[in-house]
Amino acid sequence: MPIRHLSISGVRNLQPLELSLHSGVNFIYGANGSGKTSILEAIVLIAAGKSFRTSQLKHVLNHDADRIEIRMTVEDEELGECTFDSLRLKSGDQLLKLNDSVLTSQAEASHWLPVQIIDPTTFKLLSGSPEERRQFIDWGVFHVEQNFMDQWRTFRKQLKQRNAVLKQKEEEWLPVWNKGFVESAQVIDEQRRAYLKRFKPEFERILKALDPDVDVTLAYYPGWDKDSELSDVLAKQQERDMVLGYTQAGPHRAELRIKVDKQPAAEILSRGQQKTVVAALKIAQGAMFQQETGRRTIYLVDDLASELDEKHRFALCKLLEDLKCQVFITSIDKEKLTDIWQPVASKVFHVEQGQVSEDSR
Ligand SMILES: Nc1ncnc2c1ncn2[C@@H]1O[C@H](COP(=O)(O)OP(=O)(O)OP(=O)(O)O)[C@@H](O)[C@H]1O
Ligand SMILES: [Mg+2]
Repeated sequence: MPIRHLSISGVRNLQPLELSLHSGVNFIYGANGSGKTSILEAIVLIAAGKSFRTSQLKHVLNHDADRIEIRMTVEDEELGECTFDSLRLKSGDQLLKLNDSVLTSQAEASHWLPVQIIDPTTFKLLSGSPEERRQFIDWGVFHVEQNFMDQWRTFRKQLKQRNAVLKQKEEEWLPVWNKGFVESAQVIDEQRRAYLKRFKPEFERILKALDPDVDVTLAYYPGWDKDSELSDVLAKQQERDMVLGYTQAGPHRAELRIKVDKQPAAEILSRGQQKTVVAALKIAQGAMFQQETGRRTIYLVDDLASELDEKHRFALCKLLEDLKCQVFITSIDKEKLTDIWQPVASKVFHVEQGQVSEDSR
């Protein structure tokens, strides 16, 4: 599902721009602070509804602008050629459109625009909070299981209601809420479990291709003692839940444990190895998405050279090329990209103080 045309205005230091993109690899190079990451940030803003650099949109809005406008024309496997428009005003108001229809939720756009980011902060997937890894699993499940979003919303509602009952110490109502809570928790758990079962061999295959010397195991923790029934765990923890005023066990506490020799991978692996493992997780997810839906992920690789030596850079680029996905790769100098790898199909863009031009090669 490549992006054919991209227009951006009002994003950081970027001058209003119109780019005609390649459906294969798009190299973007330029000096520090020229605006490379900002281009990727604009793509993510429309695909995920948020930036991957800041939680506050006001930082993304150009200092002299009153709005961010991003338009993407994509060639989708199912929809055919279509256009996504995102408008965000300084006031906070926003509008998201697919062709001429207003989208009422970000999830609708995200469904059509699966994007994976590999950047210098990527190692946080290993060292960050369990929530990061939970979101990682859920990206995969969301994109292959059509009803996952609805299931998740149902579960969140059940959790909120159960927590309200706990806070108000209405013990007599708990059995009623427990039933619904357990039912919706089990649906989420089964979907995550089934997804990870299919995901693991794909991840192992990709990691081997990226670096056969890194040996990592993935273990899924559902959010409660895996040898016990959730209903029993809830009963056992009820008193403590009442004191705390929230539910300790459930899919909202699930975790993907990533280990090397039974130790957390983040504590053992070097920075470069961590980036390799995270890249393998993200490439495996894209590969699986492709196998299961017949659609393709867009890869944004920001600052390819950071932490990766030539051999690993090449292996990463080669895997992305084999996936035949659209890829955006940024680098400070052109040679760091083109010296190691000449993909058959690519365009090269140069960014200079917010101005983007296509290189004639
Ligand atoms: N809201 C804003 N309005 C205008 N300019 C901004 C705003 N926020 C950041 N900038 C500037 O825009 C540029 C954004 O740079 P960006 O992070 O995209 O650069 P980059 O090419 O990825 O650099 P690096 O190679 O260092 O990663 C920087 O020069 C920054 O100072
Ligand atoms: Mg950057």
